[in-house]
Amino acid sequence: MSVENKSVSRSRELKVYIETYGCQMNLADTEVVLSIMNKSGYSPARTLDEADVVLLNTCSVREHAEEKIHQRLHTIRKELSTRPDLVVGVLGCMAERLRTNLVERHKVDVVVGPDEYRKLPQLVDGAFSGTQGIGVRLSRTETYDDIVPFRADGVSAWISVMRGCDKFCTFCIVPFTRGRERSRSLDSILREVEGLVNRGFREVTLLGQNVNSYRDGTNDFADLLSAVADVDSTLRVRFTTSHPRDLSDKLIDAIAGKDNLCKYIHLPVQSGSNRILKAMNRTYTRERYLDLVKRIRERIPEVALSTDIITGFPTETVQNHQDTVSMMEQVCYDGAYMFKYSPREGTPAHKLGDDVPDDVKTERLNEIITLQQKISFDLNQNLIGRIVEVMVDGRSKKSDQQLSGRTDANKTVVFPVGPIKPGDIVKVKISRASAATLFGEGSVASN
Ligand code: 5AD
Ligand code: SF4
Repeated sequence: MSVENKSVSRSRELKVYIETYGCQMNLADTEVVLSIMNKSGYSPARTLDEADVVLLNTCSVREHAEEKIHQRLHTIRKELSTRPDLVVGVLGCMAERLRTNLVERHKVDVVVGPDEYRKLPQLVDGAFSGTQGIGVRLSRTETYDDIVPFRADGVSAWISVMRGCDKFCTFCIVPFTRGRERSRSLDSILREVEGLVNRGFREVTLLGQNVNSYRDGTNDFADLLSAVADVDSTLRVRFTTSHPRDLSDKLIDAIAGKDNLCKYIHLPVQSGSNRILKAMNRTYTRERYLDLVKRIRERIPEVALSTDIITGFPTETVQNHQDTVSMMEQVCYDGAYMFKYSPREGTPAHKLGDDVPDDVKTERLNEIITLQQKISFDLNQNLIGRIVEVMVDGRSKKSDQQLSGRTDANKTVVFPVGPIKPGDIVKVKISRASAATLFGEGSVASN
């Protein structure tokens, strides 16, 4: 396939700008892509205006996410009338799912899925001389293990430890767009963590679609997490996401046993109804999930739990929805990400139709959002008067006179400015709380 020649001179360094959509895996992948592009002579652009190449790292998890990106590509296309030399590329899950459709619909120059980022420089080079580039093969082995992600200095870093997903929840497109599960080597992850600590990072989050499937030889995820925590006992270590089916007692014990492993677990439940859980192929029952929560809380009493919930899955009845409501009341999650079911072509659930009307989905979604806000608000009220340890992120978004940070349990705390800098851990006394934020009086350095 051939498009017009882009007449950009290679005598100066070309710049690449990446817009990232969707999950944290995409944020981590963007840093891998920047590293790959940088090695081939492309430096990161600060804005789209100064870029020679714009790449959209995309998400397919719900239709709404895709619609936003189609709109964005439409806008970029309009800009191209004044910037014909700009190379436009689509990466990530939409690239994998829609492939040449994206070329036809938006006339983009390159389309590269999550396992072919090593080819990107070559494909972008080709686009400058008028060749469209497509790389959408999935791999059983690619982990980008040897690539040091391109990161700006900061406090907090994402580290991808495994890729893909073999769970095949019936609603989910991810196993089709990100392929089979595979893990990075424990050694290379530890080297990456050491490098981050040396650069001053104070928090890492280990990422994978289902981190509990991590395996390197005889080492499982609990071994990896403990080894990362041992790199520096003052480094905060988090992870996401855990499938409830695979979260082992060994992992719970590991979290309980080390101070710097954050006492926060994201444990997507998706539904409280056994019939719907079965139709979703989640491979656990409500009772088994509740038993897991009980075991976690027995061993880690201060743990914070959050979840994902889908409302309006095909055939969901009022009673099934009530089961989700009662599940939320029973577990009392600290936080929840809640979504209306969105049918994804090619997934098993797509064949079930989409029989819960949109207004019913909206009504159910609003009900659970309101419930979660009440639960979060009540839990946060219990913290008033308590002193919590907060890692400082920076100035609060709303006021220059306030700092913002997060507790071990990942709750946002806003408190008055003091002689402290991002990455410091301080003790803050909580004086009031909303559903989303804790407000503190003052802060003292913690040691
Ligand atoms: N519709 C709605 N929500 C979905 N999720 C995944 N697939 C879909 C879908 N088709 C949600 C799940 C998952 C989170 C990342 O996105 O709750 O845990
Ligand atoms: Fe999707 Fe289920 Fe895999 Fe999560 S565990 S990525 S919801 S298939």
